[in-house]
Amino acid sequence: MKIAVLKEQAAGEARVAATPETVKKFIGLGAQVAVESGAGLTASVADADYAAAGASVADRAATVAGADIVLAVQGPDVASVAGANPGAWIVAGLNPFGERARVDAYAAAGYEALAMEFMPRITRAQSMDILSSQSNLSGYKAVLDAASEYGKAFPMMMTAAGTVSAARAFIMGVGVAGLQAIATARRLGAQVSATDVRAATKEQIESLGAKAIFVEKVAGIEGEGSGGYATEMSDEYKAAQAELISSHIAKQDIVITTALIPGRPAPRLITDAQIASMKPGSVIVDLAVEQGGNVEGAVAGEVVVRHGVKIVGHRNVPSRLATDASALFSRNLFNFLSAFWDKDKGAPVLDEEIGNAIRLTQGGKVVNERLLG
Ligand code: NAI
Repeated sequence: MKIAVLKEQAAGEARVAATPETVKKFIGLGAQVAVESGAGLTASVADADYAAAGASVADRAATVAGADIVLAVQGPDVASVAGANPGAWIVAGLNPFGERARVDAYAAAGYEALAMEFMPRITRAQSMDILSSQSNLSGYKAVLDAASEYGKAFPMMMTAAGTVSAARAFIMGVGVAGLQAIATARRLGAQVSATDVRAATKEQIESLGAKAIFVEKVAGIEGEGSGGYATEMSDEYKAAQAELISSHIAKQDIVITTALIPGRPAPRLITDAQIASMKPGSVIVDLAVEQGGNVEGAVAGEVVVRHGVKIVGHRNVPSRLATDASALFSRNLFNFLSAFWDKDKGAPVLDEEIGNAIRLTQGGKVVNERLLG
């Protein structure tokens, strides 16, 4: 059983899909691990550290040659895994909806592509969930990015020269990223409020010491939509939400938006007119910018200024904390593969529930129902 760890190809991707810690653990399971030279450099892991953990370090062709499992953060081009064994698994965040042509190419080449972002949200899969581990770091980093763009302080400070008032921070979308953003903004001393469409988040917001801002007169998603995710809201709800948000947003210094709906463009939460109502110098961070954006005028990969308000649209926010993001991502992959490790076969064997959820291609075909439906 050979596991290959690739150096990421995508521009701006600083993470890596295995660390010396997980390499050692895979070897402990009986696997052989090959790491592409330079794979860990941008995440502060030297080739020598992988070698010391027991991996062979080589160029891409030698790394991939004869591999049964290829690990990556983002889906590699199919040409770059040529030489892997027939039916080899490609285990990564594969962006199945955004990179459909690549998924088709994996099928045509006979690989079994496993999309880690399709991991079902069930208790036993929590430790395998890359969306959670990466979103948690994104929520933290979004607040730091806001703080560094903001020309004022977050906490209230009483100084001999006078008082600095606390920043007001509003978090829109309270999933994994939003919860961490609330906690981080509170730690920095901001006055924090937050909103979501899922009624279940109200208590979570309050338990973190923030104020919950909720649409009361139209039902949101009581409990949660399928798999704990939100679904598209009614037009009536959207209108009520816009009205509520408008009056609240005008008083905010910092807004962090994290709202996503799986398989659809991100919901638009902030309009240009609402931005114009904010004080100059305020900062908005749109964590959904790569999925279409929650904020009108946000530009992926840029910080733009509209009506004196900075709109931060960094791409790939977890990669901005590459060392921790890689460590958690790598553990997610190890937790996943080791949970299914069959000692007799010396290889992982998936069960139906998780296998069917994450398997995109098999036997030359696209087999995942989310892609076929
Ligand atoms: P996400 O990244 O899909 O969306 C972020 C947040 O935006 C969600 O809270 C969603 O309700 C909210 N949102 C969507 N449309 C909105 C709108 N129009 N206005 C305001 N907010 C909107 O969500 P994430 O972070 O992936 O988590 C969703 C849920 O799944 C959470 O309850 C989380 O605790 C749960 N979860 C469960 C796991 C497990 O059991 N293995 C693992 C990870 C998360």
